Amino acid sequence: PHRKVTKICCIGAGYVGGPTCAVIALKNTHIIVTIVDVNPTRIAAWNSDSLPIYEPGLDAVVKECRGRNLFFSTDVDKGILEADLIFVSVNTPTKTQGVGAGYAADLGYVEAATRRVAEVATGDKIVVEKSTVPCRTAQSMRVILEANSRPGIHFDILSNPEFLAEGTAISDLMCPDRVLIGSLDTPAGRSAAASLADVYAGWVPRNQIITMNLWSSELSKLAANAMLAQRISSINALSAICEATGADIDEVSYACGLDSRIGPKFLKASVGFGGSCFQKDILNLVYLSESLHLPEVAAYWKQVVEFNEHQKKRFLHRIITCLFNTLTAKKITLLGFAFKADTGDTRESPAITLAKYLRAERAHITIYDPQVTEDQIWLDLSEPGVVDDIESLKKQVTICNNKYEACEGADAVVVCTEWKEFKMQKDPADTRGMDWTRVYEKMKKPAFVFDGRLILDVHRMEEIGFQLESIGRPGKGFRRSKDWE
Ligand code: UDX
Ligand code: UDX
Ligand code: ADP
Repeated sequence: PHRKVTKICCIGAGYVGGPTCAVIALKNTHIIVTIVDVNPTRIAAWNSDSLPIYEPGLDAVVKECRGRNLFFSTDVDKGILEADLIFVSVNTPTKTQGVGAGYAADLGYVEAATRRVAEVATGDKIVVEKSTVPCRTAQSMRVILEANSRPGIHFDILSNPEFLAEGTAISDLMCPDRVLIGSLDTPAGRSAAASLADVYAGWVPRNQIITMNLWSSELSKLAANAMLAQRISSINALSAICEATGADIDEVSYACGLDSRIGPKFLKASVGFGGSCFQKDILNLVYLSESLHLPEVAAYWKQVVEFNEHQKKRFLHRIITCLFNTLTAKKITLLGFAFKADTGDTRESPAITLAKYLRAERAHITIYDPQVTEDQIWLDLSEPGVVDDIESLKKQVTICNNKYEACEGADAVVVCTEWKEFKMQKDPADTRGMDWTRVYEKMKKPAFVFDGRLILDVHRMEEIGFQLESIGRPGKGFRRSKDWE
């Protein structure tokens, strides 16, 4: 008979810990869930009406549970002390210096949180690694816990990777494809896994709660993200062939996706993938492979990230070529700055890379995004440590909070994020879409639009008068030269 969990503590109130534990609280009214974080501003925001992250549906979940069985606090020790199950959901950024810099995960936050658990706990705990971590991190956590705990206290370590995607976090959590729980193959390990499985069984069908060994669970998370990113790099590599041959990447994706062995999802060509996970997890996998003396395996996965960088550069080159080989002093408007729609998150957003490239070409950049804060954009574009950078940055970059004003007088508009509000409005009464005729009238001619997300229809845009250049489709120049029209 395994232990019934009644109190959960989550260390780390971020994009993963916050929504995950909010849904756990929603679906398990008998469990008290406390989310703790060392960042008081973040906790204050979680306790306020404007939550620290934008995620559709999250507000309603938090509103229903907060103060009932969901609490946010900066008192990490109290959270640890009271809980029988602790999620460790802290940040694991890529190391920027030292051994493995640029590849390996910085596990400093995981280690600090684990040490805290060991020092504070006065009773047995189940400790769950929720952050995406390199394979065998659970082992390190176990050693830290056992070496630093009070005598007689027993810890069980579980790996329970989270598969939610930003922008759809709440629906992903409500109806997950699977819940993965990794444990040691010992009676204590299996019993701890059963305790955590019960928590998820509050709303997830039992046959979708999968238990396996710890290392498989840790590696599965890295593998799933690596394969998803690989699909995007594959389709983006094909998009380059499409642009050069006259094939259309949407048609190619559709045709491939109909093969049930391939499937239709995650085949949308784009200016490149972003987000906090894909690049980081692949680089983790590359580092792991190299550490295991498997250089061919490392090279295989590394190419997925390298091609993603190439895709962004390719898009920039297309912009430069179309704009008569110079961007100096031209107004280029970026529509969207988040790494994908329905999130305010900009981590590894392709728009950041693109804006930096455009800056180097001496363009004047105007940026509009419905969710990303102005401060965040300044932070993303400034180079840390360069003193006068922010001054020159502000001379070259304008942030605008109206999408139409942002496009006024522009030489080119570049769609970087697939926000619904950038799609062509269905009819003049449709206020959720974009009135592209209005945009056209106020732009410099020829009016260029570069669609990095394949959300705009070539024919309708050309009817208005635009020259639309989309990823994965030959541009007008190509079509004209081949006499295809
Ligand atoms: C393939 C395509 O499947 C088919 O659509 C196309 O028309 C022709 O090429 P085929 O080569 O006959 O068909 O067999 P397939 O079942 O695809 O297997 C190809 C190779 O991949 C085999 O050696 C198979 O053993 C191997 N394979 C397949 C794996 O190693 N792992 C798998 O999961 C699937
Ligand atoms: C991802 C995984 O999907 C999720 O399971 C994991 O838990 C965390 O990492 P996330 O990064 O939030 O989630 O978003 P995702 O929807 O996967 O998109 C990642 C990037 O790929 C975005 O920049 C998106 O625009 C891009 N993308 C996605 C494409 O370019 N084409 C696609 O077809 C899908
Ligand atoms: P993720 O996307 O993985 O959720 P975030 O960066 O959004 O990552 O969130 C991680 C959170 O963990 C941050 O709010 C950070 O303040 C918090 N954190 C990091 N280390 C600790 C720690 N030792 N104790 C408590 N909270 C921590």
